[in-house]
Amino acid sequence: MAIDRKNRSGIALAPSPTVKDTEAFEQTLRPKRLNEYIGQGAIKSHVLVHVQAARTRSEPLGHTLLHGPPGLGKTTLAYILAQEMGCSLRIASGPGIEKPGDLASLLTNLAQGDILFIDEIHRMRPAIEEVLYSAMEDYALDLVIGKGPSARSMRLELKPFTLVGATTKIGSMSAPLRDRFVHQFKLAFYEPAEMRQIVDRTAGILGVPMQEGAAHRIACSARATPRIANRLVRSVRDFAQVGGESTISVERVETTLGALGIDDRGLDRTDRAILESIIAKFAGGPVGLSTLAAVTSEEEETLEDVYEPYLMQQGFLQRTPKGRIVTKLAYELLGMRVPEGVQGTML
Ligand code: ADE
Repeated sequence: MAIDRKNRSGIALAPSPTVKDTEAFEQTLRPKRLNEYIGQGAIKSHVLVHVQAARTRSEPLGHTLLHGPPGLGKTTLAYILAQEMGCSLRIASGPGIEKPGDLASLLTNLAQGDILFIDEIHRMRPAIEEVLYSAMEDYALDLVIGKGPSARSMRLELKPFTLVGATTKIGSMSAPLRDRFVHQFKLAFYEPAEMRQIVDRTAGILGVPMQEGAAHRIACSARATPRIANRLVRSVRDFAQVGGESTISVERVETTLGALGIDDRGLDRTDRAILESIIAKFAGGPVGLSTLAAVTSEEEETLEDVYEPYLMQQGFLQRTPKGRIVTKLAYELLGMRVPEGVQGTML
């Protein structure tokens, strides 16, 4: 949908922020309705109640915050919320909204009850965040027009809407923004049986026949994360196709995972390099995030958001007040002798 560059008062607004162009391909894999969405059972049942209640009252859904590691289905849930509410969804990203005018453009173009999805909402600029407060609370935008002595403020009324925010870092959000979300859901890593269902579903949609055991093997190596499972199914499909095979065998999955450097726990080269560095260079830790980022040549944010959550969930790594430490399991994974006094998982 094209954005009208003028709001209702005829004031020209800044160009729209970059709206994420979701790949058509990705779209075909996304479940469209709540009953197709696998896993996250508690969230689904709560969402169903809130959607039903809002629809009965003919009101927009309350503002909803989705948080958790990347790839677990936050964006997919936002699409589903729009489907279930029978409204349109507009997608934006926190860092893409540069000026208050960008936000005004997005908000004034929403129809009654529509959903605005802001991905990476923790990266929104504070000045934009403040404009969002009145939009969320009063469905109104307080904008300052002009600069200096001639500056004047104006209030734009908005149609009631729902803000759906997504973040991998709820701790980096300001309390005033976080607390304005009526519903807050934390997405968890998926159970093995759920991962298996997701792989089967994706293979079915893509028309990739799996031999006995192949889907299970992919499911085990996908870091409990649907996005990774979908990526692996596509990779395996390409390797099989180039190898002239019409079905996916366990051997084909093994060779693909081997080529990608992924082991049977789903850990890749970087995961192992992180654990190896902590053991070899810091005697198992503790080591601070910035030091770990420097020695592994990864960005701090990537370590924190992408790698550490799964390493912690699997019990290889712990975050302590003094820094990151590895557990006994990490030594065992890497085939190293466990030094005296190293603990297992302390959960
Ligand atoms: N694709 C990505 N996440 C999914 C989920 N939770 N259920 C089904 N398909 C998915």
